[in-house]
Amino acid sequence: MIELSNAANRGAAASVISATSIDFARNFPPPSPLIGDSLVLAFDELEGTDTAAAIRFPRFVGTARDRAAAAGWVARRLGIAPDPETIVLSNGSQSILVMLLASLVQPGNVLLTEELTYAAIKPIVSLFGIKLFPIKMDDEGIIPDALDSACIKLGSALRALYCMPTLHNPTAATMSIERRAEVAEVARRHNLWIFEDDIYGFLPETAPPPLYTFAPERTWYILGLSKSLAAQLRVAYTVAPSETMARQVFWPGVKTTNWMVAPLIAEVATRWIEQGAADSILSSVRTETNVRQEIVRKSLPSWAIRVPPFCYHIWLELPPAWSPTEFEQAVRRQGVVIAPGDSFSAIPGGFAARFRIGIGVPSDHQTLRDGLDILNNARDQIASS
Ligand SMILES: Cc1ncc(COP(=O)(O)O)c(C=O)c1O
Repeated sequence: MIELSNAANRGAAASVISATSIDFARNFPPPSPLIGDSLVLAFDELEGTDTAAAIRFPRFVGTARDRAAAAGWVARRLGIAPDPETIVLSNGSQSILVMLLASLVQPGNVLLTEELTYAAIKPIVSLFGIKLFPIKMDDEGIIPDALDSACIKLGSALRALYCMPTLHNPTAATMSIERRAEVAEVARRHNLWIFEDDIYGFLPETAPPPLYTFAPERTWYILGLSKSLAAQLRVAYTVAPSETMARQVFWPGVKTTNWMVAPLIAEVATRWIEQGAADSILSSVRTETNVRQEIVRKSLPSWAIRVPPFCYHIWLELPPAWSPTEFEQAVRRQGVVIAPGDSFSAIPGGFAARFRIGIGVPSDHQTLRDGLDILNNARDQIASS
Protein backbone atom coordinates (compact mmCIF):
# COMPACT_ATOMS: atom_id res chain seq x y z
CA MET A 1 0.00 0.00 0.00
CA ILE A 2 1.29 3.49 -0.81
CA GLU A 3 1.71 5.69 2.18
CA LEU A 4 0.47 9.21 1.55
CA SER A 5 3.12 11.81 2.14
CA ASN A 6 1.33 14.33 4.30
CA ALA A 7 -1.63 14.77 6.51
CA ALA A 8 -3.55 16.94 4.05
CA ASN A 9 -3.29 14.14 1.51
CA ARG A 10 -4.42 11.65 4.11
CA GLY A 11 -7.44 13.86 4.66
CA ALA A 12 -8.09 14.08 0.94
CA ALA A 13 -7.81 10.31 0.62
CA ALA A 14 -10.23 9.78 3.46
CA SER A 15 -12.70 12.04 1.75
CA VAL A 16 -12.56 9.92 -1.36
CA ILE A 17 -12.87 6.66 0.54
CA SER A 18 -15.85 7.55 2.68
CA ALA A 19 -19.03 8.55 0.90
CA THR A 20 -20.34 10.18 4.07
CA SER A 21 -17.31 12.30 4.90
CA ILE A 22 -17.30 16.07 4.96
CA ASP A 23 -14.11 17.39 3.46
CA PHE A 24 -12.53 20.42 5.11
CA ALA A 25 -9.01 19.17 4.31
CA ARG A 26 -8.83 20.31 0.74
CA ASN A 27 -8.98 23.90 -0.31
CA PHE A 28 -11.19 24.32 -3.34
CA PRO A 29 -13.29 27.33 -4.31
CA PRO A 30 -16.96 26.94 -3.49
CA PRO A 31 -18.98 25.61 -6.42
CA SER A 32 -20.12 28.31 -8.83
CA PRO A 33 -23.59 27.81 -10.33
CA LEU A 34 -22.24 29.35 -13.55
CA ILE A 35 -19.64 26.70 -14.34
CA GLY A 36 -21.95 24.17 -16.03
CA ASP A 37 -23.45 26.60 -18.53
CA SER A 38 -20.11 28.29 -19.17
CA LEU A 39 -18.55 24.94 -20.01
CA VAL A 40 -21.39 23.97 -22.34
CA LEU A 41 -21.10 27.32 -24.09
CA ALA A 42 -17.33 27.02 -24.53
CA PHE A 43 -17.66 23.52 -25.99
CA ASP A 44 -20.60 24.54 -28.22
CA GLU A 45 -18.43 27.24 -29.70
CA LEU A 46 -15.74 24.73 -30.52
CA GLU A 47 -18.06 23.26 -33.10
CA GLY A 48 -16.74 24.16 -36.51
CA THR A 49 -13.26 24.95 -35.20
CA ASP A 50 -10.50 22.44 -35.63
CA THR A 51 -10.86 20.75 -32.24
CA ALA A 52 -9.36 17.52 -33.51
CA ALA A 53 -6.14 19.38 -34.28
CA ALA A 54 -6.34 21.11 -30.93
CA ILE A 55 -6.02 17.80 -29.10
CA ARG A 56 -3.60 16.28 -31.57
CA PHE A 57 -0.71 18.66 -30.96
CA PRO A 58 0.83 20.05 -27.79
CA ARG A 59 0.16 23.68 -27.01
CA PHE A 60 3.65 24.21 -25.53
CA VAL A 61 3.71 27.54 -23.64
CA GLY A 62 0.27 28.46 -25.03
CA THR A 63 -0.87 29.86 -28.35
CA ALA A 64 -0.57 33.56 -29.13
CA ARG A 65 -4.29 33.87 -28.33
CA ASP A 66 -3.90 32.05 -25.00
CA ARG A 67 -1.06 34.34 -24.03
CA ALA A 68 -2.92 37.48 -25.07
CA ALA A 69 -5.85 36.42 -22.86
CA ALA A 70 -3.41 35.58 -20.06
CA ALA A 71 -1.72 38.99 -20.38
CA GLY A 72 -5.09 40.70 -19.96
CA TRP A 73 -5.93 38.56 -16.92
CA VAL A 74 -2.64 39.04 -15.08
CA ALA A 75 -2.68 42.77 -15.91
CA ARG A 76 -5.45 43.10 -13.35
CA ARG A 77 -2.93 42.15 -10.67
CA LEU A 78 0.23 43.60 -12.17
CA GLY A 79 -1.26 46.92 -13.23
CA ILE A 80 0.05 46.55 -16.80
CA ALA A 81 -0.16 43.76 -19.36
CA PRO A 82 3.21 42.01 -19.57
CA ASP A 83 4.80 41.17 -22.91
CA PRO A 84 3.04 37.92 -23.97
CA GLU A 85 6.48 36.51 -24.86
CA THR A 86 7.29 36.42 -21.13
CA ILE A 87 4.15 34.40 -20.36
CA VAL A 88 4.11 30.62 -20.03
CA LEU A 89 0.91 28.61 -19.76
CA SER A 90 1.13 25.38 -17.81
CA ASN A 91 -1.12 22.74 -16.38
CA GLY A 92 -1.07 24.36 -12.97
CA SER A 93 1.16 26.20 -10.53
CA GLN A 94 2.44 22.95 -9.07
CA SER A 95 3.97 21.94 -12.42
CA ILE A 96 5.57 25.35 -12.81
CA LEU A 97 7.11 25.09 -9.35
CA VAL A 98 8.58 21.69 -10.20
CA MET A 99 10.21 23.15 -13.31
CA LEU A 100 11.49 26.27 -11.55
CA LEU A 101 12.96 24.28 -8.67
CA ALA A 102 14.63 21.81 -11.02
CA SER A 103 16.07 24.55 -13.24
CA LEU A 104 16.88 27.39 -10.91
CA VAL A 105 17.43 25.90 -7.45
CA GLN A 106 18.82 22.40 -8.17
CA PRO A 107 19.87 19.59 -5.81
CA GLY A 108 21.85 20.48 -2.71
CA ASN A 109 20.80 24.13 -2.76
CA VAL A 110 18.33 25.96 -0.57
CA LEU A 111 14.79 27.22 -1.10
CA LEU A 112 13.44 29.71 1.43
CA THR A 113 9.75 29.66 2.31
CA GLU A 114 7.38 31.07 4.83
CA GLU A 115 7.56 28.86 7.94
CA LEU A 116 4.09 27.66 6.97
CA THR A 117 3.80 26.85 3.31
CA TYR A 118 1.81 25.16 0.56
CA ALA A 119 1.70 21.48 1.58
CA ALA A 120 3.10 20.26 -1.77
CA ILE A 121 6.37 22.15 -1.34
CA LYS A 122 7.93 19.72 1.15
CA PRO A 123 7.42 16.61 -1.00
CA ILE A 124 8.53 18.45 -4.16
CA VAL A 125 11.80 19.73 -2.70
CA SER A 126 12.56 16.31 -1.27
CA LEU A 127 12.17 14.81 -4.76
CA PHE A 128 14.97 17.06 -5.93
CA GLY A 129 17.20 16.91 -2.85
CA ILE A 130 16.65 20.64 -2.29
CA LYS A 131 16.82 21.94 1.28
CA LEU A 132 13.95 23.97 2.66
CA PHE A 133 14.65 26.83 5.05
CA PRO A 134 11.70 28.40 6.90
CA ILE A 135 11.42 32.14 7.43
CA LYS A 136 9.57 33.44 10.47
CA MET A 137 6.20 35.05 9.81
CA ASP A 138 4.05 37.60 11.57
CA ASP A 139 0.49 38.70 10.78
CA GLU A 140 1.64 39.99 7.36
CA GLY A 141 3.69 36.96 6.38
CA ILE A 142 7.47 36.89 5.95
CA ILE A 143 9.44 39.12 8.31
CA PRO A 144 12.05 40.98 6.20
CA ASP A 145 14.71 40.97 8.96
CA ALA A 146 14.33 37.21 9.36
CA LEU A 147 14.70 36.85 5.59
CA ASP A 148 17.82 38.99 5.63
CA SER A 149 19.40 36.99 8.49
CA ALA A 150 18.65 33.70 6.72
CA CYS A 151 20.30 34.98 3.55
CA ILE A 152 23.40 36.03 5.46
CA LYS A 153 23.54 32.66 7.24
CA LEU A 154 22.96 30.46 4.20
CA GLY A 155 25.24 32.23 1.77
CA SER A 156 26.05 30.64 -1.55
CA ALA A 157 23.69 27.62 -1.36
CA LEU A 158 20.73 29.96 -1.42
CA ARG A 159 18.84 30.29 -4.67
CA ALA A 160 15.21 31.32 -4.32
CA LEU A 161 12.31 32.38 -2.13
CA TYR A 162 8.90 30.77 -2.64
CA CYS A 163 6.09 32.77 -1.07
CA MET A 164 2.41 33.70 -1.13
CA PRO A 165 2.09 37.41 -0.32
CA THR A 166 -1.72 37.52 -0.65
CA LEU A 167 -4.10 35.31 1.33
CA HIS A 168 -1.26 33.05 2.32
CA ASN A 169 -2.08 29.36 2.61
CA PRO A 170 -2.81 28.37 5.37
CA THR A 171 -2.81 31.55 7.50
CA ALA A 172 -4.63 33.96 5.12
CA ALA A 173 -1.99 36.62 5.91
CA THR A 174 -1.55 39.40 3.34
CA MET A 175 1.56 41.55 3.12
CA SER A 176 1.13 45.33 3.12
CA ILE A 177 2.66 47.36 0.30
CA GLU A 178 5.51 48.43 2.59
CA ARG A 179 6.22 44.81 3.52
CA ARG A 180 6.33 43.82 -0.14
CA ALA A 181 8.80 46.56 -0.92
CA GLU A 182 11.04 45.43 1.96
CA VAL A 183 10.92 41.74 0.98
CA ALA A 184 11.73 42.63 -2.64
CA GLU A 185 14.63 44.78 -1.50
CA VAL A 186 16.13 41.97 0.63
CA ALA A 187 15.74 39.53 -2.28
CA ARG A 188 17.51 41.97 -4.58
CA ARG A 189 20.34 42.55 -2.11
CA HIS A 190 20.98 38.81 -1.84
CA ASN A 191 20.35 38.07 -5.50
CA LEU A 192 17.46 35.65 -4.88
CA TRP A 193 14.92 34.44 -7.39
CA ILE A 194 11.39 35.00 -6.14
CA PHE A 195 8.75 32.40 -6.99
CA GLU A 196 5.60 34.37 -6.22
CA ASP A 197 2.51 32.22 -5.92
CA ASP A 198 -0.49 34.55 -6.31
CA ILE A 199 -3.06 31.80 -6.64
CA TYR A 200 -5.29 33.28 -3.93
CA GLY A 201 -4.44 36.87 -4.92
CA PHE A 202 -7.28 37.13 -7.40
CA LEU A 203 -9.92 36.38 -4.76
CA PRO A 204 -10.02 39.75 -2.95
CA GLU A 205 -11.71 42.57 -4.84
CA THR A 206 -8.68 44.68 -4.06
CA ALA A 207 -5.24 43.50 -2.98
CA PRO A 208 -1.79 45.10 -2.83
CA PRO A 209 0.30 44.76 -6.00
CA PRO A 210 2.36 41.58 -6.33
CA LEU A 211 6.07 41.36 -5.45
CA TYR A 212 6.66 41.13 -9.20
CA THR A 213 5.87 44.84 -9.46
CA PHE A 214 8.66 45.61 -6.96
CA ALA A 215 11.30 43.27 -8.40
CA PRO A 216 10.33 42.25 -11.95
CA GLU A 217 13.92 41.38 -12.85
CA ARG A 218 13.96 38.41 -10.43
CA THR A 219 10.34 37.42 -9.90
CA TRP A 220 8.54 34.50 -11.50
CA TYR A 221 4.94 35.55 -11.02
CA ILE A 222 2.57 32.55 -10.95
CA LEU A 223 -1.17 33.03 -11.24
CA GLY A 224 -3.11 29.76 -11.26
CA LEU A 225 -6.81 29.71 -12.10
CA SER A 226 -7.71 26.71 -9.97
CA LYS A 227 -8.39 28.66 -6.77
CA SER A 228 -10.34 31.52 -8.26
CA LEU A 229 -12.49 29.77 -10.88
CA ALA A 230 -12.67 25.99 -10.59
CA ALA A 231 -10.37 23.61 -8.73
CA GLN A 232 -9.59 21.32 -11.62
CA LEU A 233 -9.17 24.07 -14.20
CA ARG A 234 -5.46 23.40 -13.89
CA VAL A 235 -4.12 26.31 -15.87
CA ALA A 236 -1.49 28.65 -14.49
CA TYR A 237 -0.10 31.77 -16.13
CA THR A 238 3.50 32.45 -15.25
CA VAL A 239 5.21 35.72 -16.04
CA ALA A 240 8.96 35.21 -16.33
CA PRO A 241 11.50 37.93 -15.54
CA SER A 242 12.37 38.09 -19.25
CA GLU A 243 11.59 36.42 -22.56
CA THR A 244 15.05 34.87 -22.52
CA MET A 245 14.51 33.33 -19.09
CA ALA A 246 11.10 32.02 -20.12
CA ARG A 247 12.68 30.30 -23.12
CA GLN A 248 15.60 28.99 -21.14
CA VAL A 249 13.47 27.26 -18.54
CA PHE A 250 10.47 26.22 -20.63
CA TRP A 251 11.16 26.44 -24.31
CA PRO A 252 11.90 24.91 -26.74
CA GLY A 253 11.60 21.25 -26.01
CA VAL A 254 11.82 21.26 -22.25
CA LYS A 255 9.81 18.10 -22.04
CA THR A 256 11.02 16.65 -18.76
CA THR A 257 7.66 16.60 -16.97
CA ASN A 258 4.04 16.92 -17.93
CA TRP A 259 4.00 20.67 -17.25
CA MET A 260 2.57 21.73 -20.62
CA VAL A 261 -1.01 22.91 -20.53
CA ALA A 262 -3.74 20.49 -21.63
CA PRO A 263 -5.00 22.02 -24.90
CA LEU A 264 -8.72 21.63 -24.25
CA ILE A 265 -8.45 23.11 -20.79
CA ALA A 266 -6.42 26.02 -22.17
CA GLU A 267 -9.12 26.53 -24.80
CA VAL A 268 -11.79 26.77 -22.10
CA ALA A 269 -9.74 29.17 -19.97
CA THR A 270 -8.97 31.44 -22.92
CA ARG A 271 -12.59 31.56 -24.03
CA TRP A 272 -13.83 32.18 -20.49
CA ILE A 273 -11.47 35.14 -20.16
CA GLU A 274 -12.21 36.55 -23.62
CA GLN A 275 -15.96 36.34 -23.18
CA GLY A 276 -16.31 37.46 -19.57
CA ALA A 277 -17.40 34.10 -18.16
CA ALA A 278 -14.26 34.05 -16.00
CA ASP A 279 -15.31 37.37 -14.45
CA SER A 280 -18.81 36.18 -13.70
CA ILE A 281 -17.56 32.92 -12.17
CA LEU A 282 -15.01 34.77 -10.05
CA SER A 283 -17.67 37.13 -8.80
CA SER A 284 -19.94 34.20 -7.84
CA VAL A 285 -17.03 32.51 -6.02
CA ARG A 286 -16.41 35.72 -4.06
CA THR A 287 -20.03 36.11 -3.08
CA GLU A 288 -20.43 32.47 -2.03
CA THR A 289 -17.18 32.58 -0.05
CA ASN A 290 -18.43 35.48 2.03
CA VAL A 291 -21.77 33.75 2.62
CA ARG A 292 -19.89 30.68 3.83
CA GLN A 293 -17.69 32.79 6.11
CA GLU A 294 -20.87 34.05 7.80
CA ILE A 295 -22.04 30.47 8.32
CA VAL A 296 -18.70 29.65 9.94
CA ARG A 297 -18.93 32.62 12.29
CA LYS A 298 -22.42 31.60 13.36
CA SER A 299 -21.58 27.92 13.69
CA LEU A 300 -18.31 28.30 15.58
CA PRO A 301 -19.11 31.17 17.96
CA SER A 302 -16.50 30.26 20.52
CA TRP A 303 -13.58 29.82 18.14
CA ALA A 304 -11.40 32.81 17.31
CA ILE A 305 -12.13 33.19 13.60
CA ARG A 306 -9.80 35.64 11.90
CA VAL A 307 -10.27 35.51 8.19
CA PRO A 308 -10.30 38.35 5.66
CA PRO A 309 -13.20 38.66 3.21
CA PHE A 310 -13.10 36.47 0.07
CA CYS A 311 -10.89 33.82 1.69
CA TYR A 312 -12.20 30.28 1.95
CA HIS A 313 -9.48 28.78 4.12
CA ILE A 314 -9.55 29.32 7.84
CA TRP A 315 -6.63 28.72 10.17
CA LEU A 316 -7.87 27.58 13.55
CA GLU A 317 -6.09 27.06 16.83
CA LEU A 318 -6.86 24.48 19.46
CA PRO A 319 -6.73 25.61 23.08
CA PRO A 320 -3.40 24.54 24.63
CA ALA A 321 -4.81 21.71 26.73
CA TRP A 322 -6.16 19.81 23.75
CA SER A 323 -4.37 17.06 21.96
CA PRO A 324 -4.41 17.79 18.22
CA THR A 325 -4.27 14.10 17.36
CA GLU A 326 -7.19 13.35 19.64
CA PHE A 327 -9.14 16.19 18.05
CA GLU A 328 -8.38 15.11 14.49
CA GLN A 329 -9.35 11.54 15.28
CA ALA A 330 -12.52 12.59 17.05
CA VAL A 331 -13.75 14.60 14.07
CA ARG A 332 -12.64 11.92 11.63
CA ARG A 333 -14.70 9.31 13.52
CA GLN A 334 -17.67 11.54 12.88
CA GLY A 335 -16.88 11.82 9.20
CA VAL A 336 -15.05 15.15 9.01
CA VAL A 337 -11.54 15.51 7.61
CA ILE A 338 -9.40 18.54 8.42
CA ALA A 339 -5.87 19.57 7.41
CA PRO A 340 -3.52 19.42 10.44
CA GLY A 341 -1.02 22.23 10.97
CA ASP A 342 2.08 20.09 10.60
CA SER A 343 1.28 19.36 6.95
CA PHE A 344 1.99 23.04 6.21
CA SER A 345 4.97 23.42 8.52
CA ALA A 346 8.32 23.70 6.75
CA ILE A 347 9.81 21.99 9.82
CA PRO A 348 8.50 18.48 10.59
CA GLY A 349 6.01 18.44 13.44
CA GLY A 350 5.58 22.21 13.70
CA PHE A 351 2.30 24.04 14.34
CA ALA A 352 0.65 20.87 15.67
CA ALA A 353 -1.99 22.78 17.63
CA ARG A 354 -3.32 24.38 14.46
CA PHE A 355 -5.44 23.13 11.61
CA ARG A 356 -6.89 24.54 8.42
CA ILE A 357 -10.45 24.14 7.31
CA GLY A 358 -11.30 24.75 3.69
CA ILE A 359 -14.92 25.81 3.54
CA GLY A 360 -15.24 25.62 -0.23
CA VAL A 361 -15.51 21.85 -0.78
CA PRO A 362 -18.89 21.06 0.87
CA SER A 363 -21.44 21.08 -1.90
CA ASP A 364 -24.12 22.99 0.05
CA HIS A 365 -24.65 25.07 3.16
CA GLN A 366 -26.26 22.30 5.18
CA THR A 367 -23.27 20.01 4.67
CA LEU A 368 -21.00 22.87 5.71
CA ARG A 369 -23.08 23.46 8.86
CA ASP A 370 -23.12 19.73 9.66
CA GLY A 371 -19.34 19.58 9.42
CA LEU A 372 -18.89 22.66 11.58
CA ASP A 373 -21.24 21.19 14.21
CA ILE A 374 -19.05 18.11 14.31
CA LEU A 375 -16.00 20.29 15.02
CA ASN A 376 -17.92 21.82 17.91
CA ASN A 377 -19.07 18.44 19.22
CA ALA A 378 -15.53 17.10 19.18
CA ARG A 379 -14.36 20.10 21.16
CA ASP A 380 -17.08 19.52 23.78
CA GLN A 381 -16.29 15.83 23.88
CA ILE A 382 -12.60 16.47 24.54
CA ALA A 383 -13.35 19.22 27.04
CA SER A 384 -15.58 16.93 29.11
CA SER A 385 -13.31 13.87 29.00
C1 LIG B 1 -0.62 27.99 -2.47
C2 LIG B 1 -1.00 27.03 -3.53
N1 LIG B 1 -0.36 27.07 -4.72
C3 LIG B 1 -0.68 26.23 -5.73
C4 LIG B 1 -1.67 25.27 -5.56
C5 LIG B 1 -1.98 24.36 -6.71
O1 LIG B 1 -2.18 25.11 -7.84
P1 LIG B 1 -2.48 24.51 -9.28
O2 LIG B 1 -3.85 23.92 -9.23
O3 LIG B 1 -2.39 25.72 -10.15
O4 LIG B 1 -1.42 23.49 -9.53
C6 LIG B 1 -2.34 25.18 -4.34
C7 LIG B 1 -3.36 24.15 -4.14
O5 LIG B 1 -3.74 23.79 -3.06
C8 LIG B 1 -2.01 26.09 -3.32
O6 LIG B 1 -2.65 26.08 -2.14
